[in-house]
Amino acid sequence: MNRRSFLKVAGTATAEALLAPALANAAQPGIPLRARSEPARPVAANDHIQIALIGAGGQGQYDTQTAAQVPGVKVVAAADCYDGRLTHAKELWGADIQTTRDYREILARKDVDAVIVGTPDHWHKQVSIDAMRAGKDVYCEKPMIHLYSDGPEMIAASRQTGRILQIGSQRVSNILYIKAKELLAAGAIGQLNMITAHWDRNSAIGAWDYTVPPDASPATCDWERFLGTAPQIPFNAEQFFQWRKWKAYGSGVAGDLFVHLFSGAHFITGAKGPTRAMATGGLRFWKDGRNVPDVMLGLYDYPEGFNLALRVNFVCGGEENEGLTFTGSEGTLSIGWDGLTLNRVPREKAPGLSIGSFANAMQQEILAAYQKKYPEQHPSGPPPAGVEKYVTPPGYSDSYDHLRNFFHAVRTRQPVVEDAVFGYRAAGAALLSNLSYDRGAVVEWDPVAMKLV
Ligand SMILES: NC(=O)c1ccc[n+]([C@@H]2O[C@H](COP(=O)([O-])OP(=O)(O)OC[C@H]3O[C@@H](n4cnc5c(N)ncnc54)[C@H](O)[C@@H]3O)[C@@H](O)[C@H]2O)c1
Repeated sequence: MNRRSFLKVAGTATAEALLAPALANAAQPGIPLRARSEPARPVAANDHIQIALIGAGGQGQYDTQTAAQVPGVKVVAAADCYDGRLTHAKELWGADIQTTRDYREILARKDVDAVIVGTPDHWHKQVSIDAMRAGKDVYCEKPMIHLYSDGPEMIAASRQTGRILQIGSQRVSNILYIKAKELLAAGAIGQLNMITAHWDRNSAIGAWDYTVPPDASPATCDWERFLGTAPQIPFNAEQFFQWRKWKAYGSGVAGDLFVHLFSGAHFITGAKGPTRAMATGGLRFWKDGRNVPDVMLGLYDYPEGFNLALRVNFVCGGEENEGLTFTGSEGTLSIGWDGLTLNRVPREKAPGLSIGSFANAMQQEILAAYQKKYPEQHPSGPPPAGVEKYVTPPGYSDSYDHLRNFFHAVRTRQPVVEDAVFGYRAAGAALLSNLSYDRGAVVEWDPVAMKLV
């Protein structure tokens, strides 16, 4: 399978026709198809990339397991503040990997080429900068920043050190997003005027109530190291394991989820970011001591000539679902968990008719004149040109593609798809929502200079 290997369905195709070619390729379900399809090739010693994980929680472990499937990538170390995760890192990648609570021990190693940063948001900047200064390339999870001041520092560090910095919004490497970008650029939906996107959830896990292990204590958790620059408070296991619920470590639903939607919208449209933002919402249901809202609605003006409307609702009353819809003058492009749908609706080239309330003879007269003048046009507009649907093959992993893009850059020193500037523009836009929510006011941003106005 190559990058273009979509399963495209014309309006007339059946579901079986859609899935059949993909199933034929699904020799090993569960392993990303791209990983399977990669030609098996010997990896020269100097082509081998040794990586370490810093912040070995849920996402860091997932990223690293995915990274380890990229040919030539080897996991050699992991750092984390909870001993149970260090134990699990050895269970996953072998008893011989180095584990430590202090990530600087890993950065001191000459044989570590790159690191994956999977810490909470408030550590992204420091770990990434320390790693780049130590000569490592960095794959840093989204959102790139926790504070606005993080952005310029991370961009400068990447430029000064010449290190690769890829931000981990994996959807920008998703073949559906690449297809959507191509379709939009080719004019498939005419002139873009609006994007709506949402990410709704209803479950406790969806609302970040992650399990606190019974052995959580100051003995098993390095609380001071976890806190870092956050306000110094006594050990609190809930804050350690459910950090997204507090501003001191996370960035609310905007930093957690809006940032994915911004990354997708920016990637597909090529836009740099909004100039004005307004967000509202509230803590509606999950009143468990958290200090961030569980419902957030944001509206953004883009200088490219479209508006963006975002929603996260953690009390949505149904299944978790996520999606973006691009609306243009000649149709819509929608990306959801079931694929990409292009609905072409050609724009009428002639005026419409609203004549039903006139006397019959008058209706006949107007209709006859209309059909003479616009012989190609049906009075109720042109018929829809039909629906096209694109889906990913079974087992497809955009995280794999995103990490593969990172390791390609590590080897070739070519730019990554989501560098620090892209990452800052997406996270900077997302954090406008928190700023507007806190201030109860419209906030302004210069997306080119990447500065609050
Ligand atoms: N790309 C995605 O789809 C996606 C999905 C989930 C999470 N994420 C991002 O990944 C990051 C981690 O999220 P998570 O759900 O895995 O959180 P988590 O709590 O499961 O893991 C974070 C880990 O970082 C460790 N840590 C904290 N400070 C550290 C330090 N100074 N040094 C070393 N380790 C430290 C903690 O002990 C913890 O184990 C977040 O930034 C989140 O936004 C991205």
